[in-house]
Parts: sequence; C-alpha cells; structure tokens
Amino acid sequence: MNTFYVTTPIYYANSLPHLGHLYTMIVSDTIARAKRQRGIETYFLTGTDEHGINIERAAQKAGRTPKEQADYVVTYYKKMTSEFGLDTEHGGFDIFMRTTEPFHYQGVSELWRRISKAKTPRGNDAIYKGHYEGWFCAACAEYKTEDEYQKPKNEGEPPTCLIHDTPLDRVSEESYFFRLSDYDEALLSVLERRPDFVRPEYRRNEVISFVRGGLQDLSVSRLKNSVSWGVPVPDDPAHTMYVWFDALTNYITAIGFGNEERQKAVGFEKFWPALHLVGKDILRFHAIYWPAFLLAADIELPRAIVAHGMWLDPNGRKMSKTLGNTVELDVLRDHFPIDAIRYFCLREMVFGQDGRFGYEGLIDRANSDLASGLGNLSSRTLTMIARYCDSRIPSGLIPEDKLLLAKRTGVDTDETTVAGFIEHARDQFVHHFDNLAFSKALETAWSVVARVDKMLTDAKPWDLAKDENQKQTLGVVLYRAAESLRWLSAMLYPVMPEASRAIWRQLGVDGSPAQVDPTQLNWGELKEGSAIGEVQPVFPRMDKAKIMSQISATEPSAGVHATEADAVVAVAPTTQPAPPMKHATEADAVGVTSFIEIDDFAKVDLRVGQVLSAERVPKADKLLLLKIDLGEEQPRQILAGIAQYYEPEKLIGRKVVIVANLKPRKLRGFESQGMVVAASYGEEGRPVIATFTEDVPNGARLK
Ligand code: MSP
Repeated sequence: MNTFYVTTPIYYANSLPHLGHLYTMIVSDTIARAKRQRGIETYFLTGTDEHGINIERAAQKAGRTPKEQADYVVTYYKKMTSEFGLDTEHGGFDIFMRTTEPFHYQGVSELWRRISKAKTPRGNDAIYKGHYEGWFCAACAEYKTEDEYQKPKNEGEPPTCLIHDTPLDRVSEESYFFRLSDYDEALLSVLERRPDFVRPEYRRNEVISFVRGGLQDLSVSRLKNSVSWGVPVPDDPAHTMYVWFDALTNYITAIGFGNEERQKAVGFEKFWPALHLVGKDILRFHAIYWPAFLLAADIELPRAIVAHGMWLDPNGRKMSKTLGNTVELDVLRDHFPIDAIRYFCLREMVFGQDGRFGYEGLIDRANSDLASGLGNLSSRTLTMIARYCDSRIPSGLIPEDKLLLAKRTGVDTDETTVAGFIEHARDQFVHHFDNLAFSKALETAWSVVARVDKMLTDAKPWDLAKDENQKQTLGVVLYRAAESLRWLSAMLYPVMPEASRAIWRQLGVDGSPAQVDPTQLNWGELKEGSAIGEVQPVFPRMDKAKIMSQISATEPSAGVHATEADAVVAVAPTTQPAPPMKHATEADAVGVTSFIEIDDFAKVDLRVGQVLSAERVPKADKLLLLKIDLGEEQPRQILAGIAQYYEPEKLIGRKVVIVANLKPRKLRGFESQGMVVAASYGEEGRPVIATFTEDVPNGARLK
C-alpha cells in the first residue's frame, strides 16, 4: 500500500512553544501535504513529551501537578497549531500524541517487555540490572560524560552542563541498563547499507564516527523515589523508565504498537516505518538509541532520520530569553501572513544547516519574493486577462494565419519553449523537494516566476492590446502566464497552502491544488474560455517601518524602547562612581554655545552595541558592570554609573550606543573599555540610554 508516515519530535511539556517548535511543525506539515497531494495516504504525528524530572520540577515551581503542567503546556501547543494552520482542521497533523495517554503506557510497557526478553547480537541479555553512578543533567535528562560537562572552578562543586549551564546532579542508584555497547556493529552495518538512513550526509558521518568511537550501555530506568513521573518498569514498579525510552516509543504506540485501540484506528503495519524529522541537537537519540531499541525488539527500523539545523538570531547567536533575541509566536501571528512565515522558514534555512531569523529579514523576503515576485506576477496576469480578455482564459494557440504577425512582435510562436522550460523546472523542483532541499526547490520555482515575468515584460501586452490584429498574440502571452501560475500554484501548495489556493481560485480552476499531483501536470490543461475569479492581491506589501515600530512597541524583550521606569545614566569611566550627570535640564539642553568641525566629530567612534550581561559592582551602589557585544571578536567590558536607575536584568539584550574609542580606564579594579551614551534630563539629570527603534547590527557605526 502506498502510505507515508512523518513525525516531528514530541515537545517537552515544561515550557511553552517557540519558533524552533513551529519550524519543525512547518517542515513536517509541508512534507505531509506534498505526499497527500500525490495521492499517498499520509499520517503526520506531532505531540508532547510529558514525563520526567524536568516536567516534575516545572510543575512544582508553578504549583501544579505534573499532569496539570502538561495540560497547561498542551493548550499552548494546540493554540499554536490552530493559529498557524497546522492542526487536523486545517489539513495538518493527524495526531497530537501525548505520552500520558493510557494506550501509550500500554505500548511502551510492551516494548520494554520485548526487549527485556531479547538477546543482543553478541548473545547477552539486552536489558540487565546494574548500578549507575554519574553526573546527570536534569534539563537534558541524561548522564554527562567528561567531555559533555564544564569542570567546576572550585573543588567540591559539581560540574555544569555545557548546554544548560546548570549544576549537574551526582546520581548513584540501581538502574536497568540497555546493552547498547553490543549494538555497534549492527548499527554501523545499517548506517553503511542505507546511505539515506540518516540525512544530511554530514550528519550521517557524525553518527558513524560516534558509533565507531565506542558505545556505552545506557541507563534506562531511575528509581521511583528519584523520578516518579513516568512509566513504571513492567514487573518492577520501583523503577521509572528513562524518559527518552518512553518518548521515542511514542512514534510506534501512536499508530497501534502494543494496543488494540490505536491499531484499529490507524494501523502499525500500514504506516510504519516513519520518517523522523528532528533537530540536530537530538539526532543521537534518534539515530543511535532508537534504532538500537528497535533492533533489540525486532521491529523494522525507521524509514529515515532527517536532522535540521537551528534558528539563530540575525547576528548568528542562539536565541534565548536572557538575550532578548527570541522570535515570539504572538508577534509572528499578529504581523505576518502564515504563508510568508512558511515560505521564509523553508527558503531561508538551507535544510540541515543553521539559519538566521529576524523580523526584518522576513519582511524583506516577503516583499521581494512574494509581494513583488509571485504576487505581482499573479495580479499582473489576472488583471490583464480581466481587462483585455473579458475575464476569460484566452486561447493558448496562435492560428496559422496569424503566425507571421505574431512573429513580428518578437513573441515566441513555439509554445513548447515555455512549456519545456517549466516542465524542466518542475522536475528539478520535485527532485529537490523529495531530497528535502526546500531552499533549492523554491529557488527553482522562482526561476519560473522570473522567466514568466520577463516574458510579459518583453511581449508588452499593453501594446499588443492596442492592435486588434494582435489579439491572438496577446491572448497567447497571457495564456502562458496563467498556465504557468497554475503550475506554480500546484507546486507551491505544500509550502504555501493558502496563497496557492487563492491563486488557483482566481485563475478560475476547479478543485484545489491540494489534490493536484505536480508530477502529473500537463501543459495546456488550463481551459480556454473559462471565467477567472475575482482578482485580489495574494501577498500585500508589508510596510517595514510600520511593522517594526509596532513590534518594538509591544515587545518588551527587544529592548529598543526605554520606559521611564527603566531609564538610566550612562557614564564615562571616571575614577568616582559617577553621579547622574548634572547638566542638561530641559531648558539648558537647547543652548549650544560653540561649534565643532565635522572632523572633530569624526574622532568619536560611536558604535551600536548589545548588552550581553549586566551586574552590580560589589560595594559601588551606582555602578553596573556591562559586557557589550560590539560585533568584535570579544565583548567589551564597560562600567556605567546607572545602577540607581536601571535593573541590570532589564538591560540584557538592549541595543545601546557606545563610545568605542575612549581610552580604557580602571574603575574599582575593573577596566572599562568604552562608554554608554545616554540623554540626561530633569533636575537630577535622569539618564535615558540612547537606543534604536529599528533593528541594527552590532558594531554598526554612527555617523
Ligand atoms: N522532547 C524532546 C524530543 C523527544 S522526541 C522523541 C525534545 N523536545 S524540545 O521541545 O526540546 O525540542 C523539540 C524540537 O525543537 C527539537 O527538534 C529541537 O531541535 C527543536 N528546536 C528547539 N529550538 C530550535 C531552534 N532554535 N531552531 C530550530 N529548531 C529548534 O527535544
């Protein structure tokens, strides 16, 4: 049977969804739509990973039970999937899987039982009881080896996790182990036999070298008295299953492994094996542990494990709340069309590699590729059909007796030229798409947009329309443009469902591009004489300045708008912790008394910086010690006498203006390597840090 199964990772239920989660859903949703469009029965899974100590801790902190915590987070995921058109109702996922579902408990227990009865390829028990002692990171839910943690600065302190920067717990306890070390050869043989098993290729190579480096047995249970929130180990309820064992298994329990109810509703044999889409950060769990568990249980391995990169901020840094550089889902929802977000995600990130996400970049892309590109082509073509052809699709053929006339205008009378170009582009598009090279696929589609645009510009339909004898030539040009739009709309449907449907409707074509297999498109099937729909802009142009100022007015973390409450003093590195600058009451701020030459001003090197960290200086109640990113190799350390006006935490992420060439000075034992610029007003010289209302890269010079 022709079926396909695609999964996103299931998201931890300890924190709310963000761009990274939205991205994994968009990619899987695009893959699922493309398969369905080709008539393949597709099952698309997403959901939440709801067990483990992290969720237990998050719940405790919020005064909830772990289940209440999971329910709370799930409402946000459901909100995200509905608002961004990714849920079942909008043609998106088929199941929102939750690991707290009773059928999942049943299925995981079944898998455990199977593995605990199994022998490894070397004839040992696949699961055995032992003792484990090691450094455990609660946030990663895994033990850390020496090269995975930061050694403590002071003796006696615990090491810290390299990912989370939080102290590790020393854990020593009875534990069940999965004998992963016996699966190295079996895994290597799969990785070598199936070059597409882990993608992209460089990630596959990483996995291969990890396995070759030697695999350690994996602790797959914790004592119930240290982790109680999870699935109990069958026949030994004093143990709770390792959360990754439980979570990975969701991919098979969802479709019916180990439980009748889901088996009837979906069917394990029908859909397994799956394509797992994962972030590169969780590749090892999916490409090593999961296949090893499946090998042990004698279950077919996944179809493929595909790892994508991470979204970074426009300056190439990891997104984090503390840096104030996260992309907020509410902002995306309020200011950007869903299809523009989907297009940006798939066009901007070279699949597998990290990408940079910024609101401005998104607006620029949407304006250039969508509003001025595809959108313009669509409204231009349809408006001309409305005006010159009475809103009916013209004929795509030039009659024999008009061929010579048409040739005189320079219009190509051979329709196979444009048809051939588009067919070739479609084949390339499909090829890239099937290799999950979305960015390349979209580039190819836009080569069609450019080509058709040029065809219109060269043919000048508005001139042809003036000559009654060239009516057929005009019709042919517009037919070719409209037929190309039909093809584009079918090709682009999985990426931009709404926009594609809109173009389809406006072309007056029956049905929906969701049902049109792009590999089966035939040139010339757009019906001559059919009425087009009402012409409307598909991608209205976005007003960048307006949207950016609306975003910065509502986004506290952007740090580009100082409020009265968090106003500051900027201070030169003087030997005294500086008092708020005395001068500048509103009245005397105006009177400039002497002028300088432009060259004098040019001596001051003013740069855009971003506050990376801010802390109070011990025993100096007016001073803050700031680390500021000026786009240089190392951040600058700058002291500012603003502690009485600004909470250090509120400064993190804020864009500031720095005098970058001020001679460094020492203050209270700290070297200050520049000065923060601020306005100063009122009787007590209240400071307000100079900042920007538009996004600007760190290190940019003020002139
Ligand atoms: N619960 C585990 C997965 C278990 S699957 C059996 C987990 N959850 S997660 O919520 O932390 O992450 C889910 C996915 O979001 C991961 O694939 C991760 O790579 C992805 N992303 C998180 N931040 C991201 C970006 N900044 N950019 C792109 N994807 C990112 O891991």
